[in-house]
Amino acid sequence: MKGFFITIEGLDGAGKTTQIKFLKEYIERRGYDVVVTREPGGTPISEKIRNIILDKENSEMCPKAEALLYAASRAQHTTEVIHPAIKAGKVVICDRFVDSSLVYQGAGRSLGLEAIKNINDFATNHIEPNLTIFFDISPEITVERIRESKEIDRLEQEEIAFHYSVYNEYKNLANKYSNRIKVVNANNSIDNIKNDIEIVINKLLEA
Ligand code: TYD
Repeated sequence: MKGFFITIEGLDGAGKTTQIKFLKEYIERRGYDVVVTREPGGTPISEKIRNIILDKENSEMCPKAEALLYAASRAQHTTEVIHPAIKAGKVVICDRFVDSSLVYQGAGRSLGLEAIKNINDFATNHIEPNLTIFFDISPEITVERIRESKEIDRLEQEEIAFHYSVYNEYKNLANKYSNRIKVVNANNSIDNIKNDIEIVINKLLEA
């Protein structure tokens, strides 16, 4: 069987986690072995890097250090988990990947898309998802959801303007790479979102 690499993108609070669970079950029913993983994280070393990045005590972390830590975590994750799984014919579903760095560090932290793309190409050996699903929902809604639901981490505590620049860059990427990035309306009901994702996945698996 041919391996596939699927990434899930969107703002914090967009509802990715619930849908990833459904998606895993759906693809397994189609007869595939599925690996679900996440960034930053996905391996013991990458999870340690994740803790450094998201620790609220690290308020002095400069944007370049942040970007390089995400890329370091991703290098380990790609080598140890993602690449071997795809090679073994599995379907990898990854909660966030390089697009997150492009929008959060490239746009949100104003480091520029080119620099972020370069360090990530180096980190991942240019691996590209076969499909990326972008959960489209306005920052006003997600920020409210996050504040109500849990203790917030270092990136989530950013101002609404930061989340808007992240959101707008996601929309730009979705336009620019419309073959790879499919947009689902994450403001819909859970059932509708699930259906929309299944339609996109069917196209990928049948192509
Ligand atoms: P995530 O694990 O999705 O958050 P949570 O555990 O709250 O669901 O991601 C943690 C944060 O890291 C999130 O605010 C997005 C950010 N992030 C980046 O800024 N750049 C990246 O490359 C990645 C993967 C995540």
